[in-house]
Amino acid sequence: MKTRITELFGIQHPIIQGGMHYVGLAELAAAVSNAGGLGIITGLTQKTPELLAREIARCREMTDKPFGVNLTFLPTVSSPDYPGYIKAIIEGGVKAVETAGNNPQKWMPLLKEHGIKVIHKCTSVRHALKAEAIGCDAVSVDGFECGGHPGEDDVPNFILLPRAAEELKIPFVASGGMADGRSLVAALALGAEGMNMGTRFIATKEAPVHEKVKQAIVAASELDTRLVMRSLRNTERVLNNAAVERLLEKEKSLGANLRFEDIIDEVAGVYPRIMQNGDMDAGAWSCGMVAGLIHDVPSCQELIDRIMGEADQLIRQRLAGMAG
Ligand SMILES: Cc1cc2nc3c(=O)[nH]c(=O)nc-3n(C[C@H](O)[C@H](O)[C@H](O)COP(=O)(O)O)c2cc1C
Repeated sequence: MKTRITELFGIQHPIIQGGMHYVGLAELAAAVSNAGGLGIITGLTQKTPELLAREIARCREMTDKPFGVNLTFLPTVSSPDYPGYIKAIIEGGVKAVETAGNNPQKWMPLLKEHGIKVIHKCTSVRHALKAEAIGCDAVSVDGFECGGHPGEDDVPNFILLPRAAEELKIPFVASGGMADGRSLVAALALGAEGMNMGTRFIATKEAPVHEKVKQAIVAASELDTRLVMRSLRNTERVLNNAAVERLLEKEKSLGANLRFEDIIDEVAGVYPRIMQNGDMDAGAWSCGMVAGLIHDVPSCQELIDRIMGEADQLIRQRLAGMAG
């Protein structure tokens, strides 16, 4: 399939694997890229720029296809060495960066100077327009359904995507709630040029996470996610578990007085315990409502081939048949 997104990133299929903390390691990024999508290494999961440089080199050993790096500018407990990470990206010859959180304006000249394509992930039309104005090549439009940080506007993709199409000149991909060929065709119909998936890619053979994480996603329904940290204006969609129930109790009892320190046990430093050790109640971890549409753990190649096969069939048979 050819869209402005496949052209921009030099990939075969308009499918991107969004950056995911402690999931987006070289194994997953390489598997997605080898299957014709755009795999993304999560920059901040690597504790130092030197470790990111090593992860980029590892990915390069596993694929000769394009892949990207995610740089997340979110409120974090420590302040990451962003110039160092960007240097590692440039020196590693990576040509695609997914930015998220705060707008990447400060870093755009440096990235552009090195021919790096920037796709900014955002959750509102106004932020997407800002990304376009500062020179981003594309945006990833994350609807309310998404795993991770859906923002504070709560606009689902059925409205957000066509609104983005009404306003944007640069291409965009649909993100949040995407799982299969139906998602891709719907995203294209709503004006997107492809799709970005997070949760779906965790439940794949190559995702370097504990088997219990994959099984938790397969077992979950669309009713099993919760929104946490709303009162801190740092809303995150997570899979419900004992830690999340505890966190929500604290949010309820402390109300507007809630501070980050009150919930630090449930949210800070929990990712390695969950993703690597399979300690499923260690804390709150991002997961999309799309878990309700995930029923198996295929390889990335099987998943992407299936999506493209379904999309082709939907367009040529179901939709063409209805139109004809
Ligand atoms: C476990 C997990 C961790 C994530 N970590 C990050 C991250 O570090 N940076 C980021 O920009 N997005 C992160 N995301 C968001 C994804 O890149 C993607 O935008 C989102 O998952 C799309 O929604 P979906 O899960 O419905 O596909 C994360 C998502 C998940 C599920």
